[in-house]
Amino acid sequence: IVDIKGGPDEGLNRLDETLVVRGWVRTLRAQSSITFIEVNDGSCLSNMQCVMSSDAEGYDQIESGLILTGASVWIQGVLVKSQGSKQKVELKVEKLVLVGTSDPSFPIQKKRVSREFLRTKAHLRPRTNTFGAVARVRNALAYATHKFFQENGFVWVSSPIITASDCEGAGEQFCVTTLIPSSRETTDSPVAAIPRTEYGSVDWSQDFFGKPAFLTVSGQLNGETYATALSDVYTFGPTFRAENSNTSRHLAEFWMIEPELAFADLNDDMACATAYLQYVVQYILENCKEDMDFFNTWIEKGILSRLSDVVAKSFVQLTYTDAVDLLLKANKKFEFPVKWGCDLQSEHERYITEQAFGGCPVIIRDYPKEIKAFYMRENDDEKTVAAMDMLVPRVGELIGGSQREERLEYLEKRLDDLKLNKESYWWYLDLRRYGSVPHAGFGLGFERLVQFATGIDNIRDAIPFPRAPGSAEF
Ligand code: 4AD
Ligand code: MG
Repeated sequence: IVDIKGGPDEGLNRLDETLVVRGWVRTLRAQSSITFIEVNDGSCLSNMQCVMSSDAEGYDQIESGLILTGASVWIQGVLVKSQGSKQKVELKVEKLVLVGTSDPSFPIQKKRVSREFLRTKAHLRPRTNTFGAVARVRNALAYATHKFFQENGFVWVSSPIITASDCEGAGEQFCVTTLIPSSRETTDSPVAAIPRTEYGSVDWSQDFFGKPAFLTVSGQLNGETYATALSDVYTFGPTFRAENSNTSRHLAEFWMIEPELAFADLNDDMACATAYLQYVVQYILENCKEDMDFFNTWIEKGILSRLSDVVAKSFVQLTYTDAVDLLLKANKKFEFPVKWGCDLQSEHERYITEQAFGGCPVIIRDYPKEIKAFYMRENDDEKTVAAMDMLVPRVGELIGGSQREERLEYLEKRLDDLKLNKESYWWYLDLRRYGSVPHAGFGLGFERLVQFATGIDNIRDAIPFPRAPGSAEF
């Protein structure tokens, strides 16, 4: 006897076999002589309809009213063609065992509950159709990510989670310390968050790391060290940002995929980003059909055709300067006025992808150097850097990347101009001293990819346990 997993079509090949389903009761309907129990084990979206007559073993459990929504069960039966139109097969129950009862207070009953409510029940929400489907598609995207890079000769590198450097230079890091400054001795937590303004007054020699250490905002700088030794590499791990943005596309803890290509320029980088996105989208369209149909019906109508276009069409590319021109000429009043040199806001990004280019991913390149990080390679115009952002409809910025400054003297000057502490980047500068090569890479926010691929509109529903300002439960 084997477990049946893997969707309704799978079942048609297994008719007349005696099978076991182990899972959680979604609903139970008792009619005069037969009872229908919908069981889901999370392997696919569809429930197994288990049809039980009063002579089956374990029927007393039904009679005593113990099988409630949320309970876990073990059911053995014969797989038969279903009489109903909703499913192709059903299990004719021979034996039912109640594994774990469920209290009537189980909060996820059949009626549809809002996603806001489910965020307060993050421990139980994977038992819903939507969160089950998101979890499976997220898993498929992670698998496809490794598959894409491995098939293309990239080596996966683990970048550290605790680091002393601030890759983006934006000061949005969570500090990790074992020190409790004297002004805060009352804090009972051994890990006290010390405001950046108080770093100077702290005796760091007493700290575990001997200096301020942080949760990483990006694995890029570490990725570069391996790219300049192993050639193409990628990282895929959690990253953290203490930006106080309560939006539907920002998390305090998110996963980032960061490939780094050696002997490569910005064009190679954009080509890699495009091929990667097309590959993973194609992968879920082929391998997650049932879940993707569910999203198309219930979450975002038309998502299947939108994603098919991503695979089939080439992406628009334009320079930042052209993007600003386009926004200036747009027949639309923006909340944040546009001028050359400004950072593009999400309203601008959405206009560009959703209206100007009709729902297609757009890559914007060559941004003003003032609004970009220190490591980006300066262009010949001395005003812009070889940076690129990939924007997609609904989500906005999905990818941020650049060609890196491989010339030692340019990089040192840039650190000086930005008043960054050159000494603390000594190892990063060494990469430019010993066999420097042109190289480029990008970072893709994995939860934004999940949003884009499922149509889920809030990023807090694209990760199992979201971390955002004021929310670190579960
Ligand atoms: O554009 P960002 O800040 O780029 C970097 O960190 C580079 N070091 C990447 C690289 O070149 N290796 O971040 C990259 C991507 C963004 O495009 C966005 O998708 C995602 O990370 N991201 C976030 N996702 C969720 N919540 C946040 N707070 C995010 N901040 C950035
Ligand atoms: Mg960015």
